[in-house]
Amino acid sequence: MIVFATSDKGGTGRSVTSCNMAYRLAMGRNMKVAYLDFDFGSPTAGALFEVSAVEDGTGSGAGLHAYLEGRTPVPERVNVRISTDREDLRAQRSRGGLTLFPGDQGGGETVTATPAVVQRCVDLLTLLDTQFPVVIVDLSAGRSAAMKIALEATCPANMSHNKVYWLVFHRWTRQHVMAAHSLVWGTDGIVQSGEAARTSGRRWYDAGQLESRIRYVRTAVPSLGDPATATGGPQAAFVQEQDDNLRSFAARKRLGEGKVLGETPVEPVLQWREQIILDSDVDAEIANRSTADAFEELARALIDDDTWVPVNNRSQA
Ligand SMILES: Nc1ncnc2c1ncn2[C@@H]1O[C@H](COP(=O)(O)OP(=O)(O)OP(=O)(O)O)[C@@H](O)[C@H]1O
Ligand SMILES: [Mg+2]
Repeated sequence: MIVFATSDKGGTGRSVTSCNMAYRLAMGRNMKVAYLDFDFGSPTAGALFEVSAVEDGTGSGAGLHAYLEGRTPVPERVNVRISTDREDLRAQRSRGGLTLFPGDQGGGETVTATPAVVQRCVDLLTLLDTQFPVVIVDLSAGRSAAMKIALEATCPANMSHNKVYWLVFHRWTRQHVMAAHSLVWGTDGIVQSGEAARTSGRRWYDAGQLESRIRYVRTAVPSLGDPATATGGPQAAFVQEQDDNLRSFAARKRLGEGKVLGETPVEPVLQWREQIILDSDVDAEIANRSTADAFEELARALIDDDTWVPVNNRSQA
């Protein structure tokens, strides 16, 4: 499967959550996972996996941006378990494995969806799809060139592949819900860009088909029972009411329960530092068990065929 991780706003938790899902699939479930850093603005997946050699992209001149622009025939691959600075991660064994395809240092803001770039993307995804059961692609935020390239490369006319999915990450606030809705349904959003007629007037996708491949991930959702969030009394009542309102609002914006892959709780470790949450962090009582469980559940849901059974939007309207 090919999974595009996207968000309308920056700083939603898209990269941290995607990296943690990739880690859980590779190390916990022994799957071969490819993680592609298509964030053209700030390619920082190396930092998340604590591979210091590529923490802000690779300096080799053979990162994904260089590949897409035709400056290298083959993009660099980094074996995360072997290359990471995190001892606890290096010590893990997996019959699968996690391969990072880093972006280039300085990013790739100049990459645009030209036919040559799209074709290179098709070639790469087609190849990786035969080598890895799960390919996760972290896109730049918003209506980016990366999003356009991803949509074009995987449209039915270019890749006859029916296991291409989209995850839209957003924080649990009204503005973030609106932004996530707009990224999918708004002008130049995923559905409209996907439907846009191109040469010969051929449509790429139909809206229903594309929409059935989109799920939402709510990140850093405050826990109502958390003493830090609400101490009881009027504040607890207020927070509960806001949460209820937000849930109905999300459903009206077609981000309701049937469209949600899962959610992550507020994690103190991640408020301080972007990283993989290892079980050893939980055992050492540094990270919360609920956070590791949430990443685990997201990973499980992602590869569960039932997740992708189309839902009837009208029932959520
Ligand atoms: N569950 C969480 N609890 C607390 N903080 C979180 C959580 N998930 C992510 N964060 C923090 O939120 C910040 C933004 O996360 P991240 O960098 O993954 O977002 P992003 O959407 O990829 O941003 P960008 O658009 O800049 O690439 C980071 O500091 C991260 O550690
Ligand atoms: Mg990011």
